[in-house]
Amino acid sequence: MSNRKILVTSALPYANGPIHLGHLVEYLQTDIWVRFQKQRGVSCYYVCADDTHGTPIMLRADSEGITPEALIAKVAVEHLADFTEFGIEFDNYHSTHSPENQTFSNLIYERLRDGGHINSRIITQAYDPVKEMFLSDRFIKGECPKCGAADQYGDSCEACGATYSPTDLKNAVSVLSGAKPITKDSVHYFFNLANFNEMLQNWTTAGHLQPEVSNKLKEWLGQGLKEWDISRDAPYFGFEIPDAPGKYFYVWLDAPIGYMASFKNLCDKQGLDFEAYWGKDSDAELYHFIGKDIIYFHALFWPAMLAGANFRTPSAIFAHGFLTVNGEKMSKSRGTFIKARTYLEHLNPEYLRYYFAAKLSAGVDDIDLNFDDFAQRVNADLVGKVVNIASRCSGFIHKRFDGFLSDVCSEPELFQQFVDANAIIAELYETREFGKAMREIMALADKANQYIDEQKPWLIAKAEGQDLELQQVCSVGINLFRLLVAYLKPVLPVLATQSEQFLAIESQAWPVAAMPLLKHTLNPFEPLMTRVELDKIQAIVDASKENLQATATTVKPKQFDPIAPTIEFDDFAKLDLRIAQILKAEHVEGAEKLLQLTVDIGDETRNIFAGIKSAYAPEALEGKLTLVIANLAPRKMRFGVSEGMVLAAGPGGKDIWVLSPDAGAVAGMRVK
Ligand code: MSP
Ligand code: ZN
Repeated sequence: MSNRKILVTSALPYANGPIHLGHLVEYLQTDIWVRFQKQRGVSCYYVCADDTHGTPIMLRADSEGITPEALIAKVAVEHLADFTEFGIEFDNYHSTHSPENQTFSNLIYERLRDGGHINSRIITQAYDPVKEMFLSDRFIKGECPKCGAADQYGDSCEACGATYSPTDLKNAVSVLSGAKPITKDSVHYFFNLANFNEMLQNWTTAGHLQPEVSNKLKEWLGQGLKEWDISRDAPYFGFEIPDAPGKYFYVWLDAPIGYMASFKNLCDKQGLDFEAYWGKDSDAELYHFIGKDIIYFHALFWPAMLAGANFRTPSAIFAHGFLTVNGEKMSKSRGTFIKARTYLEHLNPEYLRYYFAAKLSAGVDDIDLNFDDFAQRVNADLVGKVVNIASRCSGFIHKRFDGFLSDVCSEPELFQQFVDANAIIAELYETREFGKAMREIMALADKANQYIDEQKPWLIAKAEGQDLELQQVCSVGINLFRLLVAYLKPVLPVLATQSEQFLAIESQAWPVAAMPLLKHTLNPFEPLMTRVELDKIQAIVDASKENLQATATTVKPKQFDPIAPTIEFDDFAKLDLRIAQILKAEHVEGAEKLLQLTVDIGDETRNIFAGIKSAYAPEALEGKLTLVIANLAPRKMRFGVSEGMVLAAGPGGKDIWVLSPDAGAVAGMRVK
């Protein structure tokens, strides 16, 4: 037994979406590492939680017509079910929306404030006057100030790559309401990172980070650290700042504190000593597994927050790269944006555990899931090499020896070679070189198969009086198989457990000094793993494409439907609603959804662009009467200026109805 005490975390997944295969790179990497430690008898706790706060979660709850609390409760159940079925075994899975997290967030904030690390001042930001909330860059769209491309976000242009501030956007609108943003002042709170410059210079070069990460941080630190805005104005789903009513902690402030909160929750359940892990003098090891996209938060903000609040800092941050599928970014249209749930509906989760293990290293390189390679590797390695050893040998042991293994090990040296390999394999697991560990293990599997090929038990079985030899050869095979399964156990817990059942042995510890199983009876052999079927992979891709279509019709209309605020009669009175006659309706070149309408509103004709092409052919509209808002401010669109709006109803797609007043109406008639 070692004296190591380890606490491990994975990044807390956002509660606004499902777990996908990209996420699983991280949770599987962490789970394998933790299972390895536990198998070695090291005390190691693995905690995680849902990251539940922030604007996107608030808006999604709004659009589903439920409270954020109800949304995060529902998502937590789904996340945990996905993780569990992939064999990811947390010691605790908690939530950032928890009393523990609120307590620690307040405590850390107050300690930082009392230490002189928090400043406040007034800042000016874009504000949606309709939704009555401040707008971050991603909630503002408009035309690029540089190239004029329409529909660009508030911070950068996807067409020309320009970066700018949202106030530079032309004809900016709020994504939430369509309203023109105004600017508004409010007090914000800032964490003064510059106070930690020296501390971070030291910390980031003291061996807590991978070399490539440390180098990247040197660049960032060289540019000087800006203060970090840690507050958001109401409405916001999060924790209110204790001494600042109406202000909330920015989600990224309380998210990493969620690591502590989840562990505290575990301590309270199991009577563990929280201070022994998080106290300034802790001798426990603390590791955060994260993706490379969130290094800034974990390697700069988080150690500074901890140091400033008198807690210990992490022993190390282990960053990994991003998942690509068939060499490209995961894509909804190609069906490669695959949800954990979709995969689980078709394939054995242990295939993916093995495949990721085989591809993972200690570095931050992206890893690619290539479907052909996936099937080929799982079939060749797990089914063809490992499981095959057991099936080749157990048949004879059962048929000829009642499942009984030989009295002696006839290949003590070969067996010892397999035992001795435990040191190098352990070293590779420990240093997160899982790919190399898998190659070591498969090299042993090759050796075992080679032994069986040379001994040819199928020939011995036919010879007279060679029973003892047959039993011994097959027993060696079974004993080698048993060690292979022990080495694969962190990666393949289900295969390991089923094999232990077949071998009729206890749960296998790390085999530092394993002895061969002799004079021992096996249980009947059941197939341990079947080959990957290619049509299942195709089914996953197809199902992932369908997901997109389903969301396209259900989610899109909701964009403009986040719970309309109540308006006063005066607001309504401002609308100039008129019956209009559609004089001309035409297609708009290059526009997917728009029709260009020329309408007569009585005293003038207007040009109006309406997003109704999915439901109406232009010829079907000409001559018809409809309802328009005549006093809407003209809006410059990519295809021209729209001078009003046609009122329509329906969820979208084919189901859009332009209101068509009855025949008694005439163009220009005022409605109300
Ligand atoms: N909520 C934050 C983390 C807060 S930690 C205090 C977050 N959530 S996330 O759901 O977007 O991502 C969770 C983890 O999964 C992150 O470490 C992220 O890097 C990782 N991955 C998300 N997509 C991924 C891939 N496509 N590939 C590999 N890892 C990915 O970030
Ligand atoms: Zn541009």
